[in-house]
Amino acid sequence: MRDRSAEKLLVKERVALEDLVREVVSEMTPRGGDLWACCPFHAEDTPSFHVRPALGVYKCFGCGESGDVFSFVQKTRGIGFREALQFLAERVGVQLSSLTPEDLRKQADARQQREVLSTALDVFRKAMGKVGRPALDYLYERGFTRETLLAWDVGFIPDDFLARLRDAGLSSSQIEGAGFTRLFGGRIGFGIRDGNGALVGFGARRLGDGDTPKYVNTRETPAFNKRNLLYGMSKASLSLGKTRRLVVMEGYTDVMMAHQRGLSEAVATMGTSFTNEHMALARGRAGNLIFVFDGDEAGQRAAERAVDMVLEDGRECRVLLLPDEVDPCEWFSVHTTEEFEQQLEADALGTVAFLARRELQRLDAGQPGGRETVARDVLTKAGKIRDSVRREALVAEIARECGVDRNELRRVARAGAASSRAPVADVDFGGGGRRVPLKAHVRSQFVAVAGLATEVGRLQEIEALVADGVIAHAGALRLLEVGRALLEPTVPEAAATEPTEAPQESTGAARLDGIEWLAALAETDPALRPALEKVLLPPPDVVMPSYEEAVSHLRREQEDQRLKQSRRDALARPGLAHDTEALQRIDSELRARAAVDHSLQAAPAPEN
Ligand code: UTP
Ligand code: MN
Repeated sequence: MRDRSAEKLLVKERVALEDLVREVVSEMTPRGGDLWACCPFHAEDTPSFHVRPALGVYKCFGCGESGDVFSFVQKTRGIGFREALQFLAERVGVQLSSLTPEDLRKQADARQQREVLSTALDVFRKAMGKVGRPALDYLYERGFTRETLLAWDVGFIPDDFLARLRDAGLSSSQIEGAGFTRLFGGRIGFGIRDGNGALVGFGARRLGDGDTPKYVNTRETPAFNKRNLLYGMSKASLSLGKTRRLVVMEGYTDVMMAHQRGLSEAVATMGTSFTNEHMALARGRAGNLIFVFDGDEAGQRAAERAVDMVLEDGRECRVLLLPDEVDPCEWFSVHTTEEFEQQLEADALGTVAFLARRELQRLDAGQPGGRETVARDVLTKAGKIRDSVRREALVAEIARECGVDRNELRRVARAGAASSRAPVADVDFGGGGRRVPLKAHVRSQFVAVAGLATEVGRLQEIEALVADGVIAHAGALRLLEVGRALLEPTVPEAAATEPTEAPQESTGAARLDGIEWLAALAETDPALRPALEKVLLPPPDVVMPSYEEAVSHLRREQEDQRLKQSRRDALARPGLAHDTEALQRIDSELRARAAVDHSLQAAPAPEN
């Protein structure tokens, strides 16, 4: 049985990073053996995103994002490592032995479901020009073009679609398994794709008025869950790198019309609330989040829930409620994208302004202290925003919106911040950290701890250095903590999945994954990331000391400290005459050590 890191390597070897990148950037330019593109993680016009296909790594020289195929998939699709591994393994046909029979069955089901859905799409498209003619005319009338309907997988679902699907070779249980119900018949079908462009379900709209629900959607299946789907995401994905802006709407037709009119960053929540999972899809790729919801009460309520969600994630967004209770589909069918940008400029509200206005509207006009209560409430909701400068600015904005005293609100904010925020790591590496060199003794501590990345067996030695007070830098200790946490889960997992194997002799040589480490660190302590990046992924022109060099540097330094201390002790003792000899001994030892230091710096230490 392969272990997880072997599987990881196998998948990594077979996946071409450049193919993954190509799916989310509009253009890649070859230079030397490498590829350059505009970065999918920040907005730019000239390519600084560098892909090195031979090594399967990427790095952006603009924003500093870097990693491998796994981190790329995790970040662009907002998923965890395990999901990314599974996604890539399936893509390159690697069977993960860490998958349980249950996982394998699920994979087979998903594959079959995709086939059923694409057969169905064929059937629905063919029906569109025939029995679906009235549906097609209706969509043309609403302003959709033939190209849009094709690109968005729109078709007509005939009354007898179940029989037609069976004629196309599908069994009843396959059809049922793909989430179809009888209610789909006689409706317009909108194909729904996930973030990877795989067909996962359909939304089916009633034709004309009636007392049945306006939309019937695919029943929830493992692949179709509105909580983690954004309609249009695979298409919007192509623009996100350029615009870094995701425009979230509510409905299928809204998104189709927005794209048709040129707003290609539009996606929809499909009428449900904006969830954590949606946030994860947007995070990292779209710094700028805009909700364009229907102007009616339902739309406003949905916007309020979305805004709460965004603040909960420590982020901000803008909200545009369209006038006259029209929805984005109607709006875009009569307006241009330039007009949209103008409307956004003029009417969109920022996160706290939107919340404050909603809450003030609900307020009983005469209620004493009501404004203060609203201000405090909005302030609390904004408390998770990480950037302290932004937080200050928001306090002023909240005070203005609510008409309360700014200084008073600032005092409330300070008191709240002092009691609720954990102390920030007292490590200052300066800015992006790429140009500021670390002090040698701090660097050695980092290099020593990062030595875990190549050999987990070093843990004991590192812990001994901590116990001796040689590794004492707060940042290095924090690193060690993250490293230990990454090590921990592998122990029970290995024991549980490989019960028959003899205990591994080689655990001492096992490796941590540097990229995972960086990712974990970026989550818990972004301030430390530049420092670790320096020691794990040094730029090609920088020579980092080896683990052994770092450790011996630290040991030597500790010994120097000890000698200097005993020198001070000797000097401080009264009646010093008889100690001259001892002092001379210490001094000559210190000199000898300095000479050794010098020669070590000149010639690299031998590998051992
Ligand atoms: P809307 O009622 O705003 O529909 O619901 P719509 O998208 O504007 O459709 P048109 O323009 O009237 O044809 C917004 C979204 O909520 C989900 C759908 O995803 C819809 O696109 N919804 C709505 C349902 O799932 N079921 C419903 O009964 C209604
Ligand atoms: Mn609508």
